[in-house]
Amino acid sequence: MKRLAILLSGRGSNFEAIADSIKRGRLPARIEVVVSNLASAPGLDKARRRGLKTLVIPSRGVPREDYDRSLVYELKRHRVDLVCLAGFMRILGPLFVRAFPNRILNIHPSLLPAFPGLNSQRQALEYGVQFSGCTVHLVDEGVDSGPILLQAAVPVLESDDEESLAARILAEEHRLYPQAIGMLVRGEVRLEGRRVVRRF
Ligand code: GAR
Repeated sequence: MKRLAILLSGRGSNFEAIADSIKRGRLPARIEVVVSNLASAPGLDKARRRGLKTLVIPSRGVPREDYDRSLVYELKRHRVDLVCLAGFMRILGPLFVRAFPNRILNIHPSLLPAFPGLNSQRQALEYGVQFSGCTVHLVDEGVDSGPILLQAAVPVLESDDEESLAARILAEEHRLYPQAIGMLVRGEVRLEGRRVVRRF
């Protein structure tokens, strides 16, 4: 059984979707630890209520390398196979990425490579695209730039504001993230350059 770490900074709804998928027997994995850089993240309470181990590693004022080093230490100590970023709002540096090569996943609320970084739903509205969506990708040393595992598209409606578009995308995120983790833990995919292809 693959051992997951979930890293979050906020609400934790993607974490809950992953935990639910495991509970329903759809995802052969276990959540070893839920880590946050913010003690106040509501996602931490949700994890505690599910009886999961949580850890706060505060990031405020901590240089990136030092932060990455503490995180790697804790995740290695928990013998984590896969690191799932689920609304983790701190950029991880090369030191962290190299410690878990192709073993870090992120979910992002746009169809990458469009609208990386922050406020992707607002960026999509302001740009005027007619479709947006979400992307689960492997994390490399860039920002939201790693190989794409899965994407889902949603329409952008004329009546949308940031909130309504974010909600439509979020529903797809909850479906997509457990599915993408499943592909990796079952060993269903391999990398060809930056393309993710099915093994069978
Ligand atoms: C999600 O929409 C996720 O895609 C986004 O933060 C939200 C976290 O929600 N992540 C990013 O923007 C990463 N750049 P959650 O805490 O309810 O899972």
